[in-house]
Order: sequence, then structure tokens, then C-alpha cells
Amino acid sequence: MAPPQHRRVRAVLVLLAATALAAGGCARSDAGNPASAKDSGKVVVACGATEEWCSAMTTRFTKETGIKAEFVRLSSGETVARLQAGKANPEFDVWHGGPADGFVAAGEQGLLDPYVSANAATIPARYKDPTGLWTGVYVGVLGFCNNTKILAEKKVAAPRSWQDLLNPGLAKDVGIAHPSTSGTAYTMLWTQTALHQGADGALDYMKRLHPNVLQYSKSGIAPAQQAARGEVGVGVIFSHDCVATQEQGFKDLSLTFPSEGTGYEVGGVALVHGAHNPSSARRYIDWTLTPAAQEIGPTVKSYQVPTNPQAKLSDKTVDLSQVKLVDYDVAAAGRAKKDLTKRFDAEVAQAPKS
Ligand code: F6P
Repeated sequence: MAPPQHRRVRAVLVLLAATALAAGGCARSDAGNPASAKDSGKVVVACGATEEWCSAMTTRFTKETGIKAEFVRLSSGETVARLQAGKANPEFDVWHGGPADGFVAAGEQGLLDPYVSANAATIPARYKDPTGLWTGVYVGVLGFCNNTKILAEKKVAAPRSWQDLLNPGLAKDVGIAHPSTSGTAYTMLWTQTALHQGADGALDYMKRLHPNVLQYSKSGIAPAQQAARGEVGVGVIFSHDCVATQEQGFKDLSLTFPSEGTGYEVGGVALVHGAHNPSSARRYIDWTLTPAAQEIGPTVKSYQVPTNPQAKLSDKTVDLSQVKLVDYDVAAAGRAKKDLTKRFDAEVAQAPKS
């Protein structure tokens, strides 16, 4: 039998464990608790969607949980660069929004920690990584955002295929972002990889498109504004960003989809490796997967498709069954990202003019 002082210590430990369980109700009893040893009760988010959506999400999260939330809006490639730069002392706790292939690329560099949220159980398997490296929060499809007025002036029909986009009548009239910084543009590049059976075919297509590209912008949404202002006739962007821009009053914009098949993103959420506020970060991730959180998008003109099947759909959200999609392998796209974007830059964007 244990001596009396050992029995007393054991009794105290049992009491402490029971108190912790009663307070937390589950194993994550320190979740979002400012008093927790490694969590200051706030969460800092690298946010890949629009400013309005990031702001609405973080504000509502704080209202519902009391946990402070800050965000910085960054394009996908920028996020990976910032996570890499801050690897030893991360400035972010969570990465929220942006195509999942960027998350795979970050995972390859050890910049994310797996976390399987209990709420991920309702998210379909095709929209999440089985190890919890990332979990999908929305889906978006690439489309052509056309300024019908500009195209009419040029007597060019709105493109309805990737082939149409190569029309010499569209010289310097296509807006697209750079795949090193933009997840949207990388989705476009990987879509060509899927359509042309590999990187060489994809880069060949991008080289042929190059004379039609006005400039490669930093963020994926920028070509929507370029098309809206009439700086280009066509922006290659996620279709929801075109719908949002139409809603800002740019009625000359029309949306078409490529007949060969288009690429799509699964916008992800993930825990940053070595996050300073891991408990709050997990609470935030749990929350982003709920129907209520996923219904916030349309209130700020973000019409991506929610991944939670219980979230209500806006009538402005694209019907995925009506668009021909390519077979988009997120994991392969993510693993190839570093090399493929480097090749794109050297062989297409910076290639010497012939
Ligand atoms: O507007 C939001 C959005 O299109 C998201 O759907 C997407 O994940 C993100 O922007 C991509 O941004 P970027 O191309 O700048 O990385």
C-alpha cells in the first residue's frame, strides 16, 4: 500500500483532473483560455480571401467566443513566404483561405501542423487532407470575367475555351496573376498541367498565351478590377470574384467557362507550425467548419461554395454540377508548386522576348 503522503498527492491529482474535465468538457480544456501556459487568448490569421470576408469572419469569431482575432490579407504565395520567413518565431497561428495546393506546398516545408477538427467529420473527404494538414472551407472555380463593351469594340467574342483565349485579337487584353504569388493563377497553371498532360505542355500553353497577357498581377482578384475598368477584355479569375465585381455595379462584366474543363480550388484552413496560440487556433479552425461560419461569405459578397453540406447556399453561388471540371489533384499540384512556378517565371514571365 502507498504511504499516506503519496495517497494525498494522488487524491489531489484526481481532483485536479476532474475539475479540468468539468470546466472544459473535453480534452482541449485550455482552448482559448488566456490563462493557458501557451496561449494568450487571441488568434492571428493569415487570411487568403477578400479583406471584407476576412474581417467579417474574424469579427464574428471574436463575438461568439470572446477570443481576439487579428488578420493580415495575403495572397497564397505570399503566405508561404511569410510562414517560411517566420518559421522560428511564427507571426501567424492559423492560415485561413486560399487554394489548398498552397497548403500542401507549405506542409512540404514543415510550416503547418496537422489538426483534425471534430467538425471536419461533416466535410466531404474530397475537401480535406486525411491527416488534417488542411481542411476545406470553400470551393471556387476558374472562369473568364469578360468586359463585353471592350470585347465588342475589338469585335472579339467572349472566350468559351482555353483555345479561344489564345485569339490574337486579344493581344495584351488578358489579365491574370502571377502563380508565384497568387493561388488563383497557380490554379490556372495546374489546370493546364491537367489538360496538357504535364508541366511541359502547360508551360507551352502559357507561352502561347503570354502575348495576350497585359501583366501578371500579384493578387488573383486584381484582374477582376482590370476587366471592370476596361484595362483588359478578359480576366482569368475565380468566378465568384467576377460575380462580386458585377455586384459592385460593373454591369458590362459577363462570365464564361472554358469548354475543355476548368480548374477549381478547395480553399483551406490549417494550424501554423509552432503557433504561439495553438488552443485558440484550434477553436478558430473548429469554428470555420460550422455552417454558421460558412454562411457569412455571401453577406460580404463572397460566393464560394461552402464545404459544409449543411451550410445554406446563396443563389449567386456557382452550381458545380453545371461546370465541366478538370481532374484537379490538389496533393500533386501542391508538391509541384515550387518547381513549376520557378519554371513559369523563367520560361514564360521573364523569358527574353524573341
Ligand atoms: O477572393 C477570394 C479568392 O478568390 C479566394 O477564393 C481564393 O482562395 C483567393 O482569393 C486566392 O487569392 P490569390 O490568388 O491572391 O492567392
